[in-house]
Amino acid sequence: MKPSSFYVTTPIYYVNDSPHIGHAYTTILADVLARYHRLAGVPTFFLTGSDEHGQKVQRAAEKAGITPQEQADRTVVHFQALWKKLGITHDDFIRTTEPRHTRVVRKILQALYDQGEIYKAEYDGWYCVPCERFYTDRDLQAGKCVECGRSLERITESNYFFKMSAYQDWLIRYIHEHPEFIQPDFRRNETLGFLQKPLNDLCISRPKSRLAWGIDLPFDSGFVTYVWFDALVNYISAAGYLDDDARFQRWWPANYHLIGKDILTTHTVYWPTMLKAMGVPMPKTIFAHGWWLIGDSKMSKSAGNVINPIDLADRYGVDAFRYFLLAEMTLGQDCHFSEEAFIRRCNADLANDVGNLLSRITKLVTSYCGGIIPAPGEDTADEPILRQAVLKAVKTMEESLGRMRLDLGLAAVIGAVREANRYLEKRQPWTLAKQTDKRPLGTVLYHAAETLRIVSGLLYPVMPDKMILLRRTLGLPAEAPALDQLSVWGKLPPDTVLGETVILFPRITTAPAEAKPLAAGQVPKTDLVEYADFAKIQLKTARILSAEKVEGADKLLKLQIEIGGETRQIVAGIAQHYAPADLAGKTVVVVANLKPANIRGVESNGMLLAASQGPALRLLTVDGDLPSGAGIK
Ligand code: MSP
Repeated sequence: MKPSSFYVTTPIYYVNDSPHIGHAYTTILADVLARYHRLAGVPTFFLTGSDEHGQKVQRAAEKAGITPQEQADRTVVHFQALWKKLGITHDDFIRTTEPRHTRVVRKILQALYDQGEIYKAEYDGWYCVPCERFYTDRDLQAGKCVECGRSLERITESNYFFKMSAYQDWLIRYIHEHPEFIQPDFRRNETLGFLQKPLNDLCISRPKSRLAWGIDLPFDSGFVTYVWFDALVNYISAAGYLDDDARFQRWWPANYHLIGKDILTTHTVYWPTMLKAMGVPMPKTIFAHGWWLIGDSKMSKSAGNVINPIDLADRYGVDAFRYFLLAEMTLGQDCHFSEEAFIRRCNADLANDVGNLLSRITKLVTSYCGGIIPAPGEDTADEPILRQAVLKAVKTMEESLGRMRLDLGLAAVIGAVREANRYLEKRQPWTLAKQTDKRPLGTVLYHAAETLRIVSGLLYPVMPDKMILLRRTLGLPAEAPALDQLSVWGKLPPDTVLGETVILFPRITTAPAEAKPLAAGQVPKTDLVEYADFAKIQLKTARILSAEKVEGADKLLKLQIEIGGETRQIVAGIAQHYAPADLAGKTVVVVANLKPANIRGVESNGMLLAASQGPALRLLTVDGDLPSGAGIK
């Protein structure tokens, strides 16, 4: 059933460091859900943002020698730029340092304090800075943080506490009575397991003498608010709580809080008890997805194994990146990331299946029907089978969305595309084109094209740019189709004139790039080097004298080059991009002082420079005439 409104959130991300694909994943998932609901005509509010207070951010600022606000301002732009690049359509981006948020946090604290929900006491326990969590002795695992396994800091100080323990029995009952509240089911059991131990009251303050970077407690300016008690409130402050009642009524309760499994307890224990104390209804579903793993460990900045989403999107395209993340991960489970898997999946599903179907249809319609999609004639036994497969994919996608199993929905859509490719093989339109009766040809081409019309709508929320391109190529209106246009076969008007032909998903032929992890604190794409280091590299122009293949290595060419009168041999991995005969006479750019290397038994003295993106690679040349051996400044 269609909800009357849809409100989806992502966690708000810490601004101590720049984003990686873990952050990108949750945000793309939220974007896809938001886009589907908009297409279904459901008023939608999609919220993301940044978590700017707390010790992590303060320490990052100290390390960089700047104020925490500067740290937040500098880092938040990386998140915002990434969301723009990845086509994220959030309706709001909340920063916890904004007055619209801090005001609400202070009002809530004051109200809870007045109600007697908050009291002052001695705190004696442990604190984990990476998780920004308090722990007691019995929570620890071998003396380390249960969540991230790192060392903890001992804290003994006066603090304020929220009477969380008073809500333990209520929370257990609520979770049992609302099975949809925590999803997937095994995460609900995890929270219930956690609740078997007596729940402590929650320490909600830090003395300013130890941490100044936070929201002042309204009833004691010697303290700031504990970062989670501040951050969780973003979900209601951005929706108008205690500010714009009509707006708040319109959106709250949220349909989905999407989170990673690392922040399950804060969302399924702290947050519900806070809301209960405030008298605010519970969000409908808190959905915890698994982690992206590199090898066997969680991708994280501190582990130094993060994958930069911008690099992947630059190399292979934004839409392929979005598709891969959603198709590859079974929602709820962990998933191993590898660039090989990325390339394999993009080539199989996108280049071989979707791209191939489009290019076959455009070629056939252009060659045999003058670029105009024909009307269908009579059915044979094959058409109902194809129609059924396609309409079933529409249903499966809808059901999978309801169950948060996008991977299954996408598999069903790709399955329908494969069915259409098989259908073309079987019905052989190239043979039918030779018949005088053109109606069977019309039936086949219409069915294949109509399949793609429906597929373009189903895949649009995941790959918006590519699907608009596909629709243009088919001659369809460029805007996204409403979802109810997809469950009806035959909406593609016959006589539609094809648009300009494109290669939708070029096959990726390059090998995966060497993993280049981002170190903690490093800003993406700014691997700065000292000038003195750069100046050590001698770049020179060189003239290619001849080139030949290296036996047994299909990517390598052996080149004889001349640099200012000196002849040298260089081995370069360009055989798939240049024929040997096309290279002689070119003036190119080489690194002249590289140590000699032996590549597949062939000596190489230097390196050619080339630019590459995705499957394309071109050699760097000079703009005009220059002799070989010229230095490059
Ligand atoms: N600021 C808190 C959240 C407050 S919400 C009120 C926080 N921020 S975070 O920057 O550490 O981001 C955590 C979220 O990023 C995870 O919950 C998850 O959504 C995403 N991911 C971070 N690393 C991840 C993986 N390796 N894999 C998948 N997603 C992960 O915690």
